[in-house]
Amino acid sequence: MEKINVALDGPAGAGKSTVARHVAKAMDYIYVDTGAMYRAITWKALQLGIRPEDTEAVIETARNMKLELFAHESGQQVYVDGENVTELIRSQEVNRAVSIIAQIPEVRQLLVEKQKKIAAAKGVVMDGRDIGSSVLPDAEVKIFLTASPRIRAERRFKEMNQPGIDLDELEKQICQRDEMDRNRVHSPLVQAEDAVLLDTSDMDLNEVVEAVLKLCRSKV
Ligand code: C5P
Repeated sequence: MEKINVALDGPAGAGKSTVARHVAKAMDYIYVDTGAMYRAITWKALQLGIRPEDTEAVIETARNMKLELFAHESGQQVYVDGENVTELIRSQEVNRAVSIIAQIPEVRQLLVEKQKKIAAAKGVVMDGRDIGSSVLPDAEVKIFLTASPRIRAERRFKEMNQPGIDLDELEKQICQRDEMDRNRVHSPLVQAEDAVLLDTSDMDLNEVVEAVLKLCRSKV
């Protein structure tokens, strides 16, 4: 059967990665979490003591590091210079800095090239902010997933399972990140014209996955 590409975009905590993972599994496709790639560069820069605002040093870091993604049953595994950073890139420090680093055009260009290559053979479910609008404009299925900020914060809260995190603070952080992602100059978070909008505030995971699979099946 001919394979297609699926682009899943939306704001932080809309459930993109969970949905994308389930859809990829059901279709026997590869799941690519592009947010993890921006997070990996952010993590490496922070490790080196580089401030996210130090654009030149961040670009240098991004160019020199080895970033590898591996598909795994439990989800995509991310390696930086041979180290598994899959969990480390989910820290609060990375959360706070990632949208600053994701504004840098050179960083985006580097990652977008990688993302296009991964999707060239089709059979990919890719989640991010600019996939339908910029990375894979020809994706056969484009979905823009969203939910109210409170619900998105609650979902992230459950998923993070880290001590000392305050729900209100998390909601504030998510809104700040969305604001930066929507207003940046280069490939901002935007619903592609031909993307289907899915507001998942009142939907459970199964319903969302089924809705996405229905769209996919109509294209293969
Ligand atoms: O999806 P996740 O919340 O892990 O993404 C982290 C950050 O990476 C986003 O807030 C955004 O700043 C950036 N990002 C991006 N473009 C993508 C994916 C993520 O700018 N395609």
